[in-house]
Amino acid sequence: DRGAYPYYMLKEIDEQPAVLHRIQETYLQDSGIPVLDQEMLNAMAKADRIYIVGAGTSYHAGLVGQTLFEKLAQVPTQAVLASEFAYTDPILSKHPFFIFLTQSGETADSRQVLVRVNEEWQAPSLTITNVENSTLYREASYQLLLQAGPEIAVASTKAYTAQIAVEAVVAKALGTRKQVPAADAFDLQHELSLAANAIQAIVDDKAQIKTVAHKDLATTRNAFYIGRGVDYFVALEAALKLKEISYIQAEGFASGELKHGTIALIEDQTPVIALITQARTASHTRGNIQEVQSRGAQVLTIVSENLAKTSDQLVIPSISELLMPLISVVPAQLLAYYASLERGYNVDQPRNLAKSVTVE
Ligand code: M6R
Repeated sequence: DRGAYPYYMLKEIDEQPAVLHRIQETYLQDSGIPVLDQEMLNAMAKADRIYIVGAGTSYHAGLVGQTLFEKLAQVPTQAVLASEFAYTDPILSKHPFFIFLTQSGETADSRQVLVRVNEEWQAPSLTITNVENSTLYREASYQLLLQAGPEIAVASTKAYTAQIAVEAVVAKALGTRKQVPAADAFDLQHELSLAANAIQAIVDDKAQIKTVAHKDLATTRNAFYIGRGVDYFVALEAALKLKEISYIQAEGFASGELKHGTIALIEDQTPVIALITQARTASHTRGNIQEVQSRGAQVLTIVSENLAKTSDQLVIPSISELLMPLISVVPAQLLAYYASLERGYNVDQPRNLAKSVTVE
C-alpha cells in the first residue's frame, strides 16, 4: 500500500533509512560484529576470486561490491553482467565463489549463470535477494535476504542500497575472518547509522532536488552523469534511473574518458551531473567539469561535504568513502523521479519494462 504517496518509487526512496536499520538489526550484533553463517564464510575464505553476477541495477550494485570485497576482504573480485557471462567461456580462477545479486530472485539471465555454476563449474554460490524462496534463492548454496520489504516500482531504489549494505556486511565478515586489518578498522555499524541519517537528510530536503529537475531536466533530450571509481559506478546507476523512467537519453561515463570521445556530444546547455565523493580523484573530476563547462554544458555537482566548494549545488553528508554510493545515489534517484513527473509519465510503470525479467 503506497498510503499518501503518489507513487511507490517515492515511498521506496523514503524507506531507505529504515531498510539500512533493518539490515543492521538483522546482520550485525550490537558490537558491530556480523552474524553470518560460518560455513558460508569458510567457503568464501577459500575463494581466490569472487564473481558478482547481476543485471541492470543489481549489476551496478555488484560493481560497488567489487570495491568493498577488494578493500575489506582483499579478494580479487569481478562484477559481471549475467546476460554476457551466461554465454561466454570465461577462464575461471581455481577456486571461484559466486555471488548473485537479484532483487526478484527470478531474473532469467542470472539464473542461467547459476545453472552453469551448479552443473558445469560446480562452485559454491550465495544469492542475495529480496524474495525468500525465489528461484535463485533456492538454487544457490547459501542465501541472504535484503530485508528491503516489497519493491513495487519498476525502477529499483531501495534494493540497490540494500544490496550495497549487505555486500558490505559480507565483505566485512569475510575480511574479519581472514584477519584483514582494513576490515577490523571498518566500523560498519557506525557507518550504516551515519548513512541512514544522511539519506534521511536528503529525502527531507526533496524540494531542492525537485527544483533542479524542473530547471535542468524538464525538456532536455539527453544528460550525462560523470565520476571516477565508485562515483563512476553510481553514475551508471544514476543514468539508468533517468533513462528508464524519464526516457531522457542518459549515459554514465568515467569522467577521464570524456576527452577520449564523449565530449564531442556536449553542446550548449547539455546537462552534465558530476559525482564527487572520493578525495583521490576529486580534483581530476573537477578538471573534467571545467572541460565540459567550457563547451557550454549545464553542470550540476553532487559532492560530499568534506570535498565541497562554495560553487557546488547538491552537497551531501560525508561518511566513509567506501559507502558513499549509499548516499550519492539518493539525489540521483530523486532527480529521475522528478524528471519523470515533470514529463508527465507513469513513474512506477515505465513503458516497455517489467519488474521482473523472466526471459533470457
Ligand atoms: O530482480 P533483479 O535485481 O535481478 O533485476 C535486475 C534488473 O532487471 C533490474 O535491476 C532493472 O535494471 C531495474 N528495473 C532497474 O531499475
